[in-house]
Amino acid sequence: METAVRVLQTQIQLAVDALRSGQLISFPTETVYGLGADAANASAVRRIFELKGRPSSHPLIVHVAQRGALREWAAKVSPVAEKLAEAFWPGPLTLVLPRAASVLDAVTGGQDSIAIRIPSHPIAQDLLSAFGGGIAAPSANRFGRLSATRAEHVREEFGDAVKVILDGGPCAVGLESTIVSCLDEIPRLLRPGAVTLAQLQAVAGTVRVGGGHDAPRVPGSTVSHYAPSTPLSIVANDELDRLTQSLARSGQRVAVLAQRAPSKVDATVTWINAGTQASAYAHDLYANLRALDHAGCALILVQDVPGDPSWDAIRDRLQRAAAAHPSLPMAVSS
Ligand code: TXA
Ligand code: MG
Repeated sequence: METAVRVLQTQIQLAVDALRSGQLISFPTETVYGLGADAANASAVRRIFELKGRPSSHPLIVHVAQRGALREWAAKVSPVAEKLAEAFWPGPLTLVLPRAASVLDAVTGGQDSIAIRIPSHPIAQDLLSAFGGGIAAPSANRFGRLSATRAEHVREEFGDAVKVILDGGPCAVGLESTIVSCLDEIPRLLRPGAVTLAQLQAVAGTVRVGGGHDAPRVPGSTVSHYAPSTPLSIVANDELDRLTQSLARSGQRVAVLAQRAPSKVDATVTWINAGTQASAYAHDLYANLRALDHAGCALILVQDVPGDPSWDAIRDRLQRAAAAHPSLPMAVSS
């Protein structure tokens, strides 16, 4: 046990040293793994965009250890933002606030706002405390692709280009943080996540949903995002078996992400039963999609998820994944 703790501290020191020398690292959070750089080092931050293949106009989230650091990054924290921070930090919530003058344009994409978050994962906490500054970190995946929820996913995305990857095992939540803009008087939910709309409303009162006319850019909100390479289609439960079997009969290998077992087992079908519990489904969603993406299939069929609000963030990510491949094989679009 003591050895394990010492190894981890050594690794955290390695990560801190890497950050201080302008390199990129990867670290676990309770949502997904981040690809981190010193948020005060412009060339390190630019390296994130290069490595991800992400347009520089898409801003990053700055992660900090505790709320005292907020005033270094935000020019103003409104009372409602304070309330949300008090209720949900550390945790899977990102707040968009007016940026402090000193924040680098490389981080904010030149916008006058900043996205900021205090993660609760103990390794992220230890890292941020040891580093002392802010860590700018998007999800640790190439632009437009599935987020990484395990250390091996980060390796799969970036190979040796990221030397230090802190391995915290599978992320507890499995989906990116809820993003709320507090730039206007009434908060605005920009990206659904583990902190639900109802939870936000319970703390903040009225909460608007989605981007307004002049809403800040949120890359996760470009329609095609979070996508496997294999075309993905969302299918109603009562269509799932018929469609799977007709595709299999026509000689196509099919992958399925369902909430139940298949009615008939077929060797050409790779079927994952991810269950009916939203939190467990979210926890494994990206790992399951990666596995199905690697199964050598022509198509991934995903059983439509329940309408209950606990599935909102999952539904959002699945719809974006499906939108990445709008032209579907005939058998599915018919
Ligand atoms: O759970 C998460 O949020 C993870 C972990 C690593 O913290 N990070 C993450 O980062 O998902 P990324 O870059 O993949 O998504 C961050 C989102 C982007 O959609 C970005 O546009 C949005 O946050 N964002 C960043 N700054 C913003 C700003 N000033 N206004 C509006 N949205 C902003
Ligand atoms: Mg991302």
